Amino acid sequence: MAEETKKTDDVSRRQFFAKLGLGSLGIAAAGTAAFAYQYLEPNVLYEPSPVVNAGKPDRYPLDSVTLDVTTGIYIIHSQEGFFSLSAVCTHLGCLTAWKPEQGIIACPCHGSKFFAFQQDGRKPGDKIEGPAPKPLPWKRIWLNDDGDLLVDRSTDVPPLARDSFVRI
Ligand code: FES
Repeated sequence: MAEETKKTDDVSRRQFFAKLGLGSLGIAAAGTAAFAYQYLEPNVLYEPSPVVNAGKPDRYPLDSVTLDVTTGIYIIHSQEGFFSLSAVCTHLGCLTAWKPEQGIIACPCHGSKFFAFQQDGRKPGDKIEGPAPKPLPWKRIWLNDDGDLLVDRSTDVPPLARDSFVRI
């Protein structure tokens, strides 16, 4: 009788360790599968497109400077045509603002000021004063097939170059 009880204990102990072993293997397999999935999945950061649709040109009156706060660009309609400047200050990256009463673009952080239009032989984007080390860069602008102005924020173009304007 005592031997039978011992046999039953042995079986249940064996079953317990077998289940414990299987459980451990299952957890290890799940961990390995999770790491393998992370390893095989492309580690890509999806960013919004650098190309901005600025809409129809007739939204922008002649001699206007329009800031798009969301995308950080200016659309400027000058006598020469439409062009685009980055609105991000070249000092420490603050968003600049158009000051119509002064006719300039100004940075609220440390006081850099920039031309928005050609003036005194200076180009739009050129620094007037302040700590900014470089002018505001010109961005590539063009018309798409629907007649919308598109701006590529990732592509700088030479100031005043023929292709740096959209002329209608
Ligand atoms: S960030 Fe514009 S002047 Fe410093």
